[in-house]
Amino acid sequence: MKSFALAALLPLLAAAGPLKRQDTTTPPFTVVAIRSGSPIQYLTLEAREEKFWLGGNPGTYCPQTTSCPPGNETVIAGINGLDVAAPGGQQIYVLPSGALGFTQAHSADIPAGAATGPFEYGHEGATAKWSFTGLGAKGGFLACPIGEGSSTQWQVFADVPNVQAPNGNANSCLGFDNIAETWTGTGAAAWEYI
Ligand SMILES: *[C@@H]1O[C@H](CO)[C@@H](O)[C@H](O)[C@H]1NC(C)=O
Repeated sequence: MKSFALAALLPLLAAAGPLKRQDTTTPPFTVVAIRSGSPIQYLTLEAREEKFWLGGNPGTYCPQTTSCPPGNETVIAGINGLDVAAPGGQQIYVLPSGALGFTQAHSADIPAGAATGPFEYGHEGATAKWSFTGLGAKGGFLACPIGEGSSTQWQVFADVPNVQAPNGNANSCLGFDNIAETWTGTGAAAWEYI
Protein backbone atom coordinates (compact mmCIF):
# COMPACT_ATOMS: atom_id res chain seq x y z
CA MET A 1 0.00 0.00 0.00
CA LYS A 2 1.21 3.47 -0.78
CA SER A 3 2.08 5.43 2.30
CA PHE A 4 0.19 8.65 2.48
CA ALA A 5 0.92 11.86 4.29
CA LEU A 6 0.08 15.50 3.89
CA ALA A 7 2.05 18.67 3.53
CA ALA A 8 2.13 21.26 6.28
CA LEU A 9 2.14 18.66 9.01
CA LEU A 10 4.60 18.77 11.83
CA PRO A 11 8.14 18.16 10.56
CA LEU A 12 8.38 15.02 12.69
CA LEU A 13 5.80 13.40 10.45
CA ALA A 14 7.89 14.09 7.38
CA ALA A 15 9.63 10.73 7.68
CA ALA A 16 6.33 8.91 7.20
CA GLY A 17 6.25 9.33 3.44
CA PRO A 18 6.04 11.78 0.56
CA LEU A 19 4.29 14.93 1.68
CA LYS A 20 1.29 16.17 -0.23
CA ARG A 21 -0.61 19.38 -0.27
CA GLN A 22 -2.82 19.82 2.76
CA ASP A 23 -6.24 21.19 2.08
CA THR A 24 -7.11 24.31 3.98
CA THR A 25 -10.75 23.35 4.26
CA THR A 26 -12.09 19.84 4.43
CA PRO A 27 -15.58 19.14 3.14
CA PRO A 28 -17.70 16.44 4.80
CA PHE A 29 -16.88 13.15 3.10
CA THR A 30 -17.68 9.48 2.83
CA VAL A 31 -14.92 6.87 2.50
CA VAL A 32 -14.78 4.07 -0.06
CA ALA A 33 -12.31 1.20 0.25
CA ILE A 34 -10.04 0.39 -2.68
CA ARG A 35 -8.43 -3.02 -2.94
CA SER A 36 -9.04 -4.42 -6.37
CA GLY A 37 -9.74 -8.11 -6.71
CA SER A 38 -10.77 -8.44 -3.08
CA PRO A 39 -14.15 -8.75 -1.35
CA ILE A 40 -13.76 -5.27 0.16
CA GLN A 41 -13.30 -3.41 -3.13
CA TYR A 42 -15.63 -0.37 -3.21
CA LEU A 43 -17.25 -1.13 0.16
CA THR A 44 -18.10 2.01 2.09
CA LEU A 45 -16.86 2.88 5.57
CA GLU A 46 -19.76 2.59 8.01
CA ALA A 47 -20.06 3.61 11.67
CA ARG A 48 -22.08 1.34 13.94
CA GLU A 49 -21.77 -0.16 17.43
CA GLU A 50 -19.11 2.45 18.23
CA LYS A 51 -16.84 0.78 15.68
CA PHE A 52 -16.16 1.19 11.97
CA TRP A 53 -16.85 -1.40 9.28
CA LEU A 54 -16.67 -1.81 5.54
CA GLY A 55 -20.09 -2.45 4.08
CA GLY A 56 -23.55 -2.70 5.55
CA ASN A 57 -25.49 0.22 6.94
CA PRO A 58 -24.58 2.83 9.53
CA GLY A 59 -26.07 2.55 13.00
CA THR A 60 -28.03 5.74 13.57
CA TYR A 61 -30.64 6.98 15.99
CA CYS A 62 -33.27 9.71 15.85
CA PRO A 63 -35.06 10.91 19.00
CA GLN A 64 -38.81 10.97 18.36
CA THR A 65 -39.01 14.56 19.50
CA THR A 66 -36.71 15.75 16.73
CA SER A 67 -36.82 16.00 12.98
CA CYS A 68 -33.72 14.11 11.81
CA PRO A 69 -31.54 13.74 8.72
CA PRO A 70 -31.92 10.41 6.83
CA GLY A 71 -29.04 8.83 8.76
CA ASN A 72 -28.39 6.32 5.98
CA GLU A 73 -24.78 7.26 5.24
CA THR A 74 -21.59 7.48 7.29
CA VAL A 75 -20.15 10.94 6.78
CA ILE A 76 -16.97 12.28 8.34
CA ALA A 77 -16.80 15.96 9.20
CA GLY A 78 -13.78 17.98 10.26
CA ILE A 79 -11.40 15.06 9.52
CA ASN A 80 -11.87 13.34 12.89
CA GLY A 81 -15.56 13.49 13.71
CA LEU A 82 -18.92 12.21 12.50
CA ASP A 83 -21.27 14.57 10.71
CA VAL A 84 -24.03 14.66 13.32
CA ALA A 85 -26.67 17.09 14.51
CA ALA A 86 -26.52 15.91 18.13
CA PRO A 87 -25.02 18.63 20.35
CA GLY A 88 -21.37 18.06 21.14
CA GLY A 89 -20.70 16.00 18.05
CA GLN A 90 -19.08 12.57 17.97
CA GLN A 91 -15.33 12.13 17.81
CA ILE A 92 -13.39 9.39 16.04
CA TYR A 93 -10.50 7.67 17.82
CA VAL A 94 -8.17 4.70 17.41
CA LEU A 95 -7.72 2.13 20.18
CA PRO A 96 -4.27 0.66 20.97
CA SER A 97 -5.48 -2.51 19.17
CA GLY A 98 -5.75 -0.42 16.01
CA ALA A 99 -9.55 -0.54 15.97
CA LEU A 100 -11.30 2.66 14.95
CA GLY A 101 -14.10 3.78 17.24
CA PHE A 102 -16.27 6.79 17.96
CA THR A 103 -17.61 8.49 21.05
CA GLN A 104 -21.23 8.11 22.05
CA ALA A 105 -23.40 11.16 21.49
CA HIS A 106 -23.51 13.52 24.48
CA SER A 107 -20.26 12.07 25.81
CA ALA A 108 -16.64 13.07 25.40
CA ASP A 109 -15.38 9.81 26.90
CA ILE A 110 -12.43 8.36 24.99
CA PRO A 111 -11.24 4.88 26.06
CA ALA A 112 -7.92 4.70 27.91
CA GLY A 113 -4.94 4.64 25.58
CA ALA A 114 -6.94 5.64 22.51
CA ALA A 115 -5.56 8.29 20.12
CA THR A 116 -7.71 11.03 18.64
CA GLY A 117 -5.22 11.83 15.89
CA PRO A 118 -3.53 12.81 13.82
CA PHE A 119 -6.06 12.14 11.10
CA GLU A 120 -5.40 13.72 7.72
CA TYR A 121 -7.36 14.52 4.61
CA GLY A 122 -5.72 15.52 1.37
CA HIS A 123 -5.39 14.98 -2.33
CA GLU A 124 -3.14 12.72 -4.33
CA GLY A 125 -3.86 14.00 -7.80
CA ALA A 126 -7.59 14.40 -8.24
CA THR A 127 -8.42 11.88 -5.53
CA ALA A 128 -8.87 12.77 -1.88
CA LYS A 129 -7.93 10.33 0.85
CA TRP A 130 -8.30 9.95 4.58
CA SER A 131 -5.49 8.64 6.77
CA PHE A 132 -4.35 8.23 10.37
CA THR A 133 -0.75 8.38 11.58
CA GLY A 134 -1.14 8.16 15.35
CA LEU A 135 -0.01 5.23 17.53
CA GLY A 136 2.80 4.41 15.09
CA ALA A 137 0.42 3.82 12.17
CA LYS A 138 1.79 4.53 8.71
CA GLY A 139 -1.41 6.10 7.45
CA GLY A 140 -3.15 3.10 5.96
CA PHE A 141 -6.21 1.19 7.10
CA LEU A 142 -6.94 -2.52 7.35
CA ALA A 143 -10.17 -4.49 7.17
CA CYS A 144 -10.15 -7.46 9.53
CA PRO A 145 -12.65 -10.26 8.97
CA ILE A 146 -15.12 -11.52 11.53
CA GLY A 147 -16.85 -14.70 10.43
CA GLU A 148 -16.44 -16.39 7.07
CA GLY A 149 -17.92 -16.58 3.61
CA SER A 150 -20.75 -14.34 2.54
CA SER A 151 -21.57 -13.36 6.13
CA THR A 152 -18.09 -11.96 6.79
CA GLN A 153 -18.05 -8.60 8.50
CA TRP A 154 -15.02 -6.38 7.92
CA GLN A 155 -13.96 -4.30 10.91
CA VAL A 156 -11.70 -1.32 10.21
CA PHE A 157 -8.34 -0.85 11.89
CA ALA A 158 -5.46 1.59 11.50
CA ASP A 159 -2.19 -0.07 10.44
CA VAL A 160 -0.61 0.24 13.90
CA PRO A 161 2.49 -1.95 14.47
CA ASN A 162 0.66 -4.68 16.42
CA VAL A 163 -2.88 -4.92 15.13
CA GLN A 164 -5.04 -7.06 17.39
CA ALA A 165 -7.39 -8.64 14.91
CA PRO A 166 -10.80 -9.71 16.24
CA ASN A 167 -10.23 -13.28 15.00
CA GLY A 168 -6.74 -13.39 16.52
CA ASN A 169 -4.98 -13.52 13.15
CA ALA A 170 -3.67 -10.16 11.94
CA ASN A 171 -2.55 -11.85 8.71
CA SER A 172 -6.20 -12.26 7.78
CA CYS A 173 -6.65 -8.48 7.64
CA LEU A 174 -6.64 -6.81 4.23
CA GLY A 175 -4.87 -3.48 3.81
CA PHE A 176 -6.81 -1.06 1.69
CA ASP A 177 -6.44 2.29 0.03
CA ASN A 178 -9.36 4.71 0.13
CA ILE A 179 -11.14 7.49 -1.67
CA ALA A 180 -12.68 10.27 0.41
CA GLU A 181 -15.69 11.39 -1.61
CA THR A 182 -17.10 14.81 -0.87
CA TRP A 183 -20.59 14.45 0.59
CA THR A 184 -23.10 16.62 -1.21
CA GLY A 185 -25.94 16.48 1.31
CA THR A 186 -27.02 19.49 3.30
CA GLY A 187 -27.06 19.83 7.07
CA ALA A 188 -25.80 16.91 9.12
CA ALA A 189 -25.79 13.34 7.79
CA ALA A 190 -27.39 11.87 10.92
CA TRP A 191 -28.75 12.93 14.26
CA GLU A 192 -26.31 10.56 15.93
CA TYR A 193 -24.46 7.32 15.21
CA ILE A 194 -24.87 4.40 17.58
C1 LIG B 1 -29.91 8.26 1.74
O1 LIG B 1 -31.19 8.88 1.71
C2 LIG B 1 -31.25 9.98 0.81
C3 LIG B 1 -32.62 10.65 1.01
O2 LIG B 1 -33.63 9.71 1.02
C4 LIG B 1 -31.03 9.48 -0.61
O3 LIG B 1 -31.06 10.57 -1.51
C5 LIG B 1 -29.66 8.81 -0.67
O4 LIG B 1 -29.46 8.24 -1.95
C6 LIG B 1 -29.54 7.72 0.37
N1 LIG B 1 -28.18 7.22 0.38
C7 LIG B 1 -27.89 5.92 0.41
C8 LIG B 1 -26.44 5.57 0.47
O5 LIG B 1 -28.74 5.05 0.40
